[in-house]
Amino acid sequence: MAVTSTGRDILQQILEHTPLVGDIRTKSPLAYGATRGATEVVNMLQMAVAESYINGLEVPDSVLRALFDSCMPVLFKYFPALLAPYEWVLQETEQVAEGAKDLMKIQYDLPQGMLNRMLGDWPLIYPKYSMALWENGAANLEQAQMQMIDDMIEKLEIQDGDHILDFGCGWGCVPNYILSRFPNVRVTGLNLSQHQCDYMRQKMQDPESYLSSDRFTLVEGDLNAARFSEKFDKILSVGVFCHVGNITQAFRKLASFLTPGGKFFLHIITVRTPNNISSVYTHKYIFPHGRYWSFDAIPAFNQDFTTVKRWYMNGINYSKTFATWLQNFDDSYSDVRHLNYGIDPDKFRRIWRFYLIWFVCNFASCDGEINGNGQFLMVHS
Ligand SMILES: C[S@@+](CC[C@H](N)C(=O)[O-])C[C@H]1O[C@@H](n2cnc3c(N)ncnc32)[C@H](O)[C@@H]1O
Repeated sequence: MAVTSTGRDILQQILEHTPLVGDIRTKSPLAYGATRGATEVVNMLQMAVAESYINGLEVPDSVLRALFDSCMPVLFKYFPALLAPYEWVLQETEQVAEGAKDLMKIQYDLPQGMLNRMLGDWPLIYPKYSMALWENGAANLEQAQMQMIDDMIEKLEIQDGDHILDFGCGWGCVPNYILSRFPNVRVTGLNLSQHQCDYMRQKMQDPESYLSSDRFTLVEGDLNAARFSEKFDKILSVGVFCHVGNITQAFRKLASFLTPGGKFFLHIITVRTPNNISSVYTHKYIFPHGRYWSFDAIPAFNQDFTTVKRWYMNGINYSKTFATWLQNFDDSYSDVRHLNYGIDPDKFRRIWRFYLIWFVCNFASCDGEINGNGQFLMVHS
């Protein structure tokens, strides 16, 4: 039976005064306060479980998985407001990109030997730290990453001769693959991670790598300070906007780098929940200031860009990607344990195992229909 608009209004009013359920941003002050209080409890429980594990509590993976598999669907479906651990997760913050220094230290400038083994490192597909596409029958991670890049090339309508900016280019995997497919494309990659840039600088000396051609330019720098003298025909950004706190400013900046008829392709982790989410655990140990924007929020930032198409990528693709990374991490750990993690290597291992196992379950929960990735094709407004 269709819900009438009066019915919807009444439901909206009930939800406004009811704590915990629905969109936290539409709550009355009392319901808002009660929801924030309950969130504190969820935050404490999450940290208690996580820190017990990373400090050595022996729990079989199956128990950890069962815990995530039972809690996450309930939280995603009914109580997404409890998944916003801090006020800042719910709204735009001042900086374009948040906590860049901490983020590089904790997450991106980790030993390359460990990341190469975990993410995979092949002649054409370099480490790629974002969703692979499995749903079209890829047999392994290398193929699945290649299929994801092919899919993005098609959606962004890359043409031979384009000059492309990869905003947050990782280890240069996407630029290398695009350059291999188009003989006249030029790519500029921007990244703040010194270790990832060192990896690309090595490839730029390797005649086997497409990054060694003069069609690739590397810019080591912060998204916050990025400036370019020339404009790009296409811009893409894959897996970076979970670090962006101010989408309005980021879009303004990117729009100023794009030619008048140019296109911008944004690929991010996204949730089909009313509000953005994050977690106290990932904020402290994995992605400082990381947040997962709501799928519907992105097209609403339409001052400088208009979303002309968008795609929801089912989370099962990311769950499988994380499962493969977890397997690689476990298989290689004894070989890479001696590397410098800045902390005790066994504690590091437990911090990362907790994160990887959690994300395997997180993206698979609700059949991948709530927590997945979003792709947005945009043009100038
Ligand atoms: C999840 S990785 C994705 C990398 C790559 N796009 C891929 O798909 O493999 C996020 C990337 O954003 C970069 N990044 C994060 N914050 C940044 C900042 N403030 N300035 C420049 N790069 C940043 C990281 O160094 C990393 O390369």
